[in-house]
Amino acid sequence: MKTLFSLVVLVGLFKYSFQQSTCDPKTCVLPNCRCLNDPNIPGKLNVADTPQIILVTLENVINGEYVDIYTSFFELKNPNGCPTHGTFFVQDSGTTYSLVANLAKDGHEIGVFSLDGNLPNDWNKMIKSMLDKLSSSGIDTKSVKGLRAPGLNIGGDEEFIGLGLNGLQYDSSCASAELSRQETMVWPFTYNFVPGPACDIGSGPANPFPGKWEFLISDMNWNGVPCATPSACINVTTKQDAFDLLFNTFRDHYLGNRSPFTLVINPQWAKSDFSREGTIEFLQYVRAAFSDTYIVTMSQALAWIQQPTPLANLTNFAPWMCPKDEKLTYEPVY
Ligand SMILES: *[C@@H]1O[C@H](CO)[C@@H](O)[C@H](O)[C@H]1NC(C)=O
Ligand SMILES: *[C@@H]1O[C@H](CO)[C@@H](O)[C@H](O)[C@H]1NC(C)=O
Repeated sequence: MKTLFSLVVLVGLFKYSFQQSTCDPKTCVLPNCRCLNDPNIPGKLNVADTPQIILVTLENVINGEYVDIYTSFFELKNPNGCPTHGTFFVQDSGTTYSLVANLAKDGHEIGVFSLDGNLPNDWNKMIKSMLDKLSSSGIDTKSVKGLRAPGLNIGGDEEFIGLGLNGLQYDSSCASAELSRQETMVWPFTYNFVPGPACDIGSGPANPFPGKWEFLISDMNWNGVPCATPSACINVTTKQDAFDLLFNTFRDHYLGNRSPFTLVINPQWAKSDFSREGTIEFLQYVRAAFSDTYIVTMSQALAWIQQPTPLANLTNFAPWMCPKDEKLTYEPVY
């Protein structure tokens, strides 16, 4: 009898603690909390009122060789008439910081990647060191909000402690095979509750980090084989393949719950003619054919998520307005 009683108490306790640690969309609310398991579009908007966001993210070395290649993806306008922008995750080694400063001046977002392309031994020190270098190049580090880990190898608690100590707001290093179908894709969420989803490489935080966001990267798929970044997809060999790969992924986001499509562009993908041209064609096509599709930075996307604004009101949505100094001011250095 005593044993049975203990068992009931134990089950009761387990159930209680489980409920305690499950995210409830009624209490975890915007602007600083969003549940992974929230089935709604932010603001409970209808699909038809929701912009499809494309996050073009570029990573690694920013120098004279890459800046022209990378900026060739942004010669387009958004439906509100403002230029399209991307998020550049910078590696220290090999980077020309004056070019990074010019990208920031043009309205692109700057984020942290790595010192030398490898995972850091000490995330906090690496992030701090990158912020110092960006700051001494004249970049306002208050505008540096996010991190992309090399190889999409998300760094668990250590990484998130580093984000917190340095005032960063989000990670975009968790690729997910599981949440990658039209029906399972998710909007960015916060780590107020753990565990988050399984990441393909590395792991998310084991402890909660309230208010820290994850921009999940849904795996792409080519011939039934999943791949987190386009350059990792096997047998994508022509411009048409590159276009189809990106368009198929876009379509899954668009016909699903319109979660932002995070496109990971690394030097390998940007440098090959066929993949770069297929990507440009894809971006041109969606911008011409979809009047509800915006190519914005991650911080702009986060501003929208925190303040969900229907499509009809977007022309006056301040965070997506044109930056004051939108002229291209960088001079390529070779
Ligand atoms: C890639 O293409 C080759 C040649 O068509 C084929 O044999 C191979 O199975 C393909 N690999 C994948 C992963 O699709
Ligand atoms: C959208 O605009 C309409 C008309 O100006 C306004 O009444 C409404 O409150 C706005 N909605 C949001 C969410 O901004």
